[in-house]
Amino acid sequence: MFELWFLLKSRVKSIYRKITILGFVTIGLITTLLVACQPQEIASPPTENSTTTPVVTQTSVTSNKPVAYSDRELGANPAQLPQLPYAANALEKAIDAQTMQLHHDRHHQTYVDNLNKALEQQPNLRASSVEAMLRDLNSVPESIRTTVRNNGGGHLNHTIFWQIMSPTGGGQPTGEIAQEINQTFGSFEQFRKQFNQAGGDRFGSGWVWLVRNPQGQLQIVNTANQDNPIMDGLYPIMGNDVWEHAYYLRYQNRRADYLNNWWNVVNWNEVNRRVIASRQA
Ligand SMILES: [Fe+2]
Repeated sequence: MFELWFLLKSRVKSIYRKITILGFVTIGLITTLLVACQPQEIASPPTENSTTTPVVTQTSVTSNKPVAYSDRELGANPAQLPQLPYAANALEKAIDAQTMQLHHDRHHQTYVDNLNKALEQQPNLRASSVEAMLRDLNSVPESIRTTVRNNGGGHLNHTIFWQIMSPTGGGQPTGEIAQEINQTFGSFEQFRKQFNQAGGDRFGSGWVWLVRNPQGQLQIVNTANQDNPIMDGLYPIMGNDVWEHAYYLRYQNRRADYLNNWWNVVNWNEVNRRVIASRQA
């Protein structure tokens, strides 16, 4: 009887142990399954500049295009002052002769001279166009970078400026530029108003521009000092100089009057050539 009781007790203990082990195994399996079935957070790709300004992919229409002229870039070997395409007194409808002479013969000449002087230190850069240097200023050695920015920019901006004015200019735009202005701004009057406003808003010295942006749209921007829109991946179609040296003799502090009168000499034929060139990315 005692042996039977002992045998029964051993069996019960054995079964109890097996149930206990089975229980642990089952709990382990369930836990593993639950963990495995949890929704997994998708790992974010590593970002190098997670807290900085989004990087803009440059698909610029200006990538390798000349902007000084519709068909060629501005050389720097050496940089040369272009001739005015009209007499200094030819734009009297908007700009007096003395301002034109000083502006072209002194101010523009100084930008050219300063650029050439800076490039004497880095003669290898003379193989680059002014546009190429301005598009990639970081590749210009730091010792002359600011000089190239200011004087290369000044040379490029004024080279464009002389061309987009004409004694026979003014009036309503025609052709391709007229269509694009109407599509983008609603009317020439609206465009002129916004352009003048942006020129007036530029504090201190600078320029106001009509540009084509990398998305192919027309846009009005202003730039400080002698910065050119190509530094921001924009194609400059037309621009007005709002430095005081451009208007002070006749208009003194009345920049708004200068901006209004300037439309009397805008060379729409040249602007049309530039608007077409700006599309050919
Ligand atoms: Fe100027």
